Amino acid sequence: MCGIVGYIGQNEAAPILIKGLKKLEYRGYDSAGIAVFGDGIHVVKTKGRLADLDQKVQQQGGVKGMVGIGHTRWATHGAPSDVNSHPHTSMNGRISVVHNGIIENYLQLKAELEEKGYVFASETDTEVVAQLFDSCYNGDMVDTLIQVIGKIRGSYALGILCNEKPDEIVAVRKDSPMLVGLGKGENFIASDIPALLEYTKDYYLLNDNEIVVLKKDSVTILDMDKNEIQKEIYNVTWDISAAEKGGYDYFMMKEIMEQPKAFQATISPRIVDGDIQLDQIQYTNEDIQNINRIHIIACGSAWHAAIVGKYVIEGYARIPVEVDLASEFRYRNPILNQNDVCIVISQSGETADTLAALREAKRQGIRILSIVNVVGSSIARESDDVLYTWAGPEIAVATTKGYSTQVALMYLLALKFGQVRGHISKEDMQMLVKELQQIPDCIEKLLSLQDEMKALAKAHAHANDVFVIGRGIDYAVAMEGSLKLKEISYIHSEAYAAGELKHGTISLIEEGTLVIAIATQDQLYEKLVSNVKEVKARGAYVVALAKEGNTEIAEVADKVIYIPHVHDTFTASLNVIPMQIFAYYVAVERGCDVDMPRNLAKSVTVE
Ligand code: F6R
Repeated sequence: MCGIVGYIGQNEAAPILIKGLKKLEYRGYDSAGIAVFGDGIHVVKTKGRLADLDQKVQQQGGVKGMVGIGHTRWATHGAPSDVNSHPHTSMNGRISVVHNGIIENYLQLKAELEEKGYVFASETDTEVVAQLFDSCYNGDMVDTLIQVIGKIRGSYALGILCNEKPDEIVAVRKDSPMLVGLGKGENFIASDIPALLEYTKDYYLLNDNEIVVLKKDSVTILDMDKNEIQKEIYNVTWDISAAEKGGYDYFMMKEIMEQPKAFQATISPRIVDGDIQLDQIQYTNEDIQNINRIHIIACGSAWHAAIVGKYVIEGYARIPVEVDLASEFRYRNPILNQNDVCIVISQSGETADTLAALREAKRQGIRILSIVNVVGSSIARESDDVLYTWAGPEIAVATTKGYSTQVALMYLLALKFGQVRGHISKEDMQMLVKELQQIPDCIEKLLSLQDEMKALAKAHAHANDVFVIGRGIDYAVAMEGSLKLKEISYIHSEAYAAGELKHGTISLIEEGTLVIAIATQDQLYEKLVSNVKEVKARGAYVVALAKEGNTEIAEVADKVIYIPHVHDTFTASLNVIPMQIFAYYVAVERGCDVDMPRNLAKSVTVE
């Protein structure tokens, strides 16, 4: 959601900014722009894609200068348009600003600035920052930024240029992501690492309201009292190829194919001689025994992983688990007790709703354990303990390997907590850990279903409605599979607990309606077969997912996809694979932009 890149150095800024923004395309955007300091500040911006921006820059004969800021905008205040695109410039052209986030008090600030004679061109909250900065400007960028921070309320990552300061960019963040890339004779700001990778692997993470003064040969970080802060230099551990498509048409397929490796990387360092070791977190056995209740908080697919977590943690550790959507948790006045633990799940580690919910739980004194993919992200840094999912960078908007690795950590926590609390025998533990270690191979096997899923997708690409049903853990996967389908193919799809369908929704089943029935819980298999019969009797076309060997379902379903025969606990990691591949091919068949579905953003940094 909105991408920011800033550059200062000895090379032409415009191509670096546009290239950097291209690496952030996955975040979702509807317009783009750059401001480059050459002979004064030159702004080029446009509604549309980066190719449109590039074309506009070329039409203007290029934009010369070695200092600049760039932005991809995901519209919040004001429709996507040339004028609402960033960078925004103060009325007199002195200040140029790119912004990610929302300035909540912008209307009040705008009214005050209008009284002072400022005239606004756009509907955005960001233009208020540019004009406000100009109205506060006293010749010192840092002083001015501190004043501006004191007046604005909300979330922001800001990059600011001033036409009186050709050799510096100032920047700051609060509740919106921004990193500082450290080069030789050049430095960068960016919303995420892929924008920097071609130039440097070294970066600083920023805390809220730390002010960055970016110069060609130096980076200074200051607090709000202008004291210099010494920062740790982080180093990107993955390679640029991890953020490239590597021959695939879309990142999503590349990431689907990476799941065995990602799952393996997430579990294997935490299984030592058959024993689950979660040394990264500071939980003693006594701490685990004393947990009273677990609250798992997340959004979207991470919330679906949380639901799998509820089933397995309650099942093995016998600890009550509540699962909350982050956006609901923070406003529902949750009842939290001293020995409760809050598990926060987020691939990006920057989701605004999840971060806000985490802060609410923390405010109430609850211990926070986060499950995060992006190292050093806000959620990771604000948690008491972190377990990283080692999925590597996830670029496609629709998560696949992010989700799978979150589920992998749900298993590890459930088994570890269950063992410590004495609910799993030594033999069962050995058997379960052994099976868990085989899951990457089982996922690999399912990845070969490409042709079958492609054919199925071709046959159903024009469906109007799809229902995905399951019971228990299968229901959690039904939700994830259904979300995948609707977000990238735009087909209306609903997940239902299979037993619940008859309480109303079955009225929507008619001749030919596609129902995907997930039937991989041994205990619930027969019940699910009955539910398949119910929808078949109403004319549904049923595709079932079942474990190898469970062939009875073939007599009632129209088509069966078999998954390897694993323990019920781990089926969530397998069922989701054909669902992802199906959604992918349906989207391709319908001509959708798989990696950047309409209206969506990868990292949802506004509430
Ligand atoms: C769906 C998807 C989203 C995210 C959700 C949370 O494919 O990717 O539903 O799961 O926005 O994002 P994170 O995990 O980054 O907090």
